[in-house]
Amino acid sequence: MYWIGGNDFTTERFENLFPIPHGVTYNSYFIDDDRTAVVDTVDSVIRDRFLENVDHLLHGRPLSYIIVNHMEPDHCGSLLALAEKYPSARIVGNSQTFRFFEQFYHCPMKDRYLSMTEQEALPLGHHSLRFVAAPMVHWPEVTMTYDETDHILFSADCFGTFGVLGGNLFADQMDYKERYLSEARRYYANIIGKFGMQAGALLKKLRALPISMVAPLHGPVFRKAGDIQLIMDSISRWAAWIPEKQSVLILEASAYGRTAEAGESMAFALASRGICDIKITDLARTDFSYALGDVFQYRGLVLAAPTYNMSLYPPMQYFLEKLTALPVRNRLAAVIGNHTWGSAAVRKMEGYVGQWKSCELVGNHVDIRSSEDRHDREAIEGLAGLMADRILGN
Ligand code: FEO
Repeated sequence: MYWIGGNDFTTERFENLFPIPHGVTYNSYFIDDDRTAVVDTVDSVIRDRFLENVDHLLHGRPLSYIIVNHMEPDHCGSLLALAEKYPSARIVGNSQTFRFFEQFYHCPMKDRYLSMTEQEALPLGHHSLRFVAAPMVHWPEVTMTYDETDHILFSADCFGTFGVLGGNLFADQMDYKERYLSEARRYYANIIGKFGMQAGALLKKLRALPISMVAPLHGPVFRKAGDIQLIMDSISRWAAWIPEKQSVLILEASAYGRTAEAGESMAFALASRGICDIKITDLARTDFSYALGDVFQYRGLVLAAPTYNMSLYPPMQYFLEKLTALPVRNRLAAVIGNHTWGSAAVRKMEGYVGQWKSCELVGNHVDIRSSEDRHDREAIEGLAGLMADRILGN
């Protein structure tokens, strides 16, 4: 079994949307057996090296199978080139895999398709592969491939992360928690987070399998029981919207700094009531993908933004559109607005919170006028007290 993926140091935004300052990997795997198999391919940016690796590992033998767990272009970007280079290789997937293949490449290879179900095994010789359907985690065709001989799970996007590999492949060879876990959370939140119900159901199915190694399509491979448990427990928690911290994330966006001051007042008031590890994020300076990742950590959310052009200040509006679409669950929320000559922000923010399932709007909003006065500070103190009581269970 070989890793034949690679690092992408050049793409600035994953899906041309999410910043990846630490790059990303596209993982692919080669199974060297009586019959050979490549499990998923790689983005076109590293195609040449990928094809060289496959060629090197085949030692002149034919490639028997190209297993396609996921048809998004970061993984199928070298699929057509591989299929054309090895014309006797069967392409393994399901009906949606093949439909997407033809949509992307307009080059049907119907006589080469091998459609597999969960009930069927694909014997390679020593290894025997089975397939675990993972629909909508996060595309409909997604499948995981399970090597029932060595108990290796090729898990598609699930369990992946942003960030390149630094020479070591396995999570136990690095400080995974320190270096990757927060990016794994951001990756989950933004790529898979909308499909938490499907991810949770999948995790339940996977827990019935003996698993010695989890090999995702991005980032480190997990082979130690503790690492496998860490990532599975993390995904289970995120999928169920169970917060990691009994603390508060203050999400503020401020045109001239007055609303930010109110957010800061809230932070100090929460701290004085015993809340620890509070985080303030400026949505006007922080890419929304980081803030969405943080939401998975915190039980309490404070939304602080001003009215702008008789509506909600755009960075908060954009963020709340994304958060509401996930859809966020199981959170406590408090709202602070600001206006000088017409109030709309608090109504807008409360409208979003009202759409969140299993969430609670704590207390009454505070709507400051231009800048905090003594009454606003008292109201913020009161709101902080209510939020702290709910968080700490007083
Ligand atoms: Fe890594 Fe859904 O692609």
